[in-house]
Amino acid sequence: MKKRSLIAALGAVLLGLPDLAGAQPAWPQRPVTMIIPFAAGGPTDVLARALTEPLTRDLGQPVVAENVTGAGGTIGAARVAAARPDGYTLLLGNIGLATSVALYRRLPYDPAGFETIGLITPVPMTLIARPGLPAQTLPELLAWARQRGSEVNLAHAGIGSASHLCATLLRSITRIPMTTVVFRGTAPVMTEMMAGRIDLTCDQTTNAMPYIQDGRVKAYAVTTAERLAALPDVATMAEGGLPDLQVTIWHGLYAPHGTPAAVVERIARALQATLRDETVGRRLADLGSAPEPQERVTPAAHRAMLDAEIARWRPILQAAGEFAD
Ligand code: MLT
Repeated sequence: MKKRSLIAALGAVLLGLPDLAGAQPAWPQRPVTMIIPFAAGGPTDVLARALTEPLTRDLGQPVVAENVTGAGGTIGAARVAAARPDGYTLLLGNIGLATSVALYRRLPYDPAGFETIGLITPVPMTLIARPGLPAQTLPELLAWARQRGSEVNLAHAGIGSASHLCATLLRSITRIPMTTVVFRGTAPVMTEMMAGRIDLTCDQTTNAMPYIQDGRVKAYAVTTAERLAALPDVATMAEGGLPDLQVTIWHGLYAPHGTPAAVVERIARALQATLRDETVGRRLADLGSAPEPQERVTPAAHRAMLDAEIARWRPILQAAGEFAD
């Protein structure tokens, strides 16, 4: 290469522009949008906002969270599925990516079609209630709900959300025909619950923890096999008589189908670095969660989890028999 073209090529590389030999510019060249498919202030939003700053540092471009809500997270997911597959639009999705397959007759995208980037964090759920609800324990709560049946309202964040999955399991295991009330996320559920207008919900600790700890809502059970260190006084579902109600919500980062593998790998490396960050680890621990082990923060481990969870929940949800169009 002549001296002048060599200088031009070097300059192009430094500027991140295509070089004269046609190599691709380094990615990313501009801000990356991370779509949160639920309301601001809720568990997915809290998680996303713990990640954006360290991801920004690693990628050298702003990673900006944007809430695109509705229909159990499927509107936000549809936005990402339809975006250009260039890595600039990502989705932070939860277990709902796997459950929605069995719940929607018509989805405008194939949840299994996203490029998987890496798993992020598992989050336990809690069964919580408005502060004035008289029951003190899970058995008392179930007796109270059994007497009232459909007068009891049970909120969730839409068909296909994590709280919907937990609510569906609760209704089908207890056979109490509680009336479900739908919100765009569990942050607005919390507001209504503290005002006494919502009786019950199942929410992730990443949202519920501070409300439980300072008594703004009542907690009856956690959905994990063991009690949580951060909520030592809250019984497990099994202790309260519902051993089959166990569910942990997992999260992953997705890109539209067809995003180049090199870009997916670059985002995966940034996510791995983010989840090694001690500040992120401490923030997640305070919220009853933890970063996924590094070997699960990979496109392949995430793909295996998504496929296994689609297969796991399909028969359970089809038997529960609640579908959306
Ligand atoms: C939220 O962020 O509001 C929740 O993740 C909704 C849900 O999936 O229950």
